[in-house]
Amino acid sequence: MTTIIDGERVASEIRDALGGSIETLADAGVRPGLATVLMGDDPASETYVNMKQRDCEEVGIEGVHVDVDGDAPAEELYETIDELNADPAIHGYLVQAPVPDHIDYREVLRRIDPTKDLDGFHPENVGRLVAGDARFKPCTPHGIQKLFEAYDVETEGADVTIVGRSEIVGKPMANLLMQKADGGNATVTVCHSRTRNLEEKTRDADVVIAASGVTELIDGSMLSEGAVVIDVGISRVEADNERGYELVGDVEFESAREKASAITPVPGGVGPMTRAMLLYNAVMAASEREGVAVELP
Ligand code: GUN
Repeated sequence: MTTIIDGERVASEIRDALGGSIETLADAGVRPGLATVLMGDDPASETYVNMKQRDCEEVGIEGVHVDVDGDAPAEELYETIDELNADPAIHGYLVQAPVPDHIDYREVLRRIDPTKDLDGFHPENVGRLVAGDARFKPCTPHGIQKLFEAYDVETEGADVTIVGRSEIVGKPMANLLMQKADGGNATVTVCHSRTRNLEEKTRDADVVIAASGVTELIDGSMLSEGAVVIDVGISRVEADNERGYELVGDVEFESAREKASAITPVPGGVGPMTRAMLLYNAVMAASEREGVAVELP
């Protein structure tokens, strides 16, 4: 029997637990404030930030959203960042990626106050993560670690193949998994578009994390029997339905589930966990800035 990993359930448990920390903060007169910034009008990004704002409302975090015109000069985005850095009601925020082509995302990240960088993408926070002293763990990899915990997937000594080397998922995931810490101690292989014989690397793995952004790149023939499969991909593919598209992951679900011992669906696997861990980071940021100790799930 293949376990279908229920990210909605685990994310909901984390949100419930964060509710307790948010109450502790409220008792001390603190309401965590989280801002999302979206430059441009990418429909998928709009959906994601709307969901993040809805999550804030549900758990009692003050959500603020800032739209920046997609054609605006970089300075306008920088001004927004300066304001959020200076705003005492905002404990943390993120600038949704991708940004328009004329914006240098690295420069954007450098301007974010690292103590408010809920994504953990500022170079200081990346350095701390690599050094094993993370401030904010990036939300998607952290969420995947929480799924492993919830489903008793042992990472210690496990061979984990990550397909994708992005700053958002692949690189931080590799760092977290190789750390000498709970949820780490794995032997990690990172594959990418130039990897030769990808299927050999995935077939060798106890755990495959598909995060390349290439739809259905990984199929059952590329997996060992009993592998745990985490699908981070979520692409919109044109479809003959009301919405005009369907969501497809980086894994061909039907063939992969026949081989896997456990697998995340798309949607309902990794996505809800990314959002839950953003709330987690916001609560942590508020707790640290305001000097109010809370227990985090
Ligand atoms: N775009 C896709 N995933 C993410 C994420 O985790 N953070 C930000 N800022 N943008 C994204």
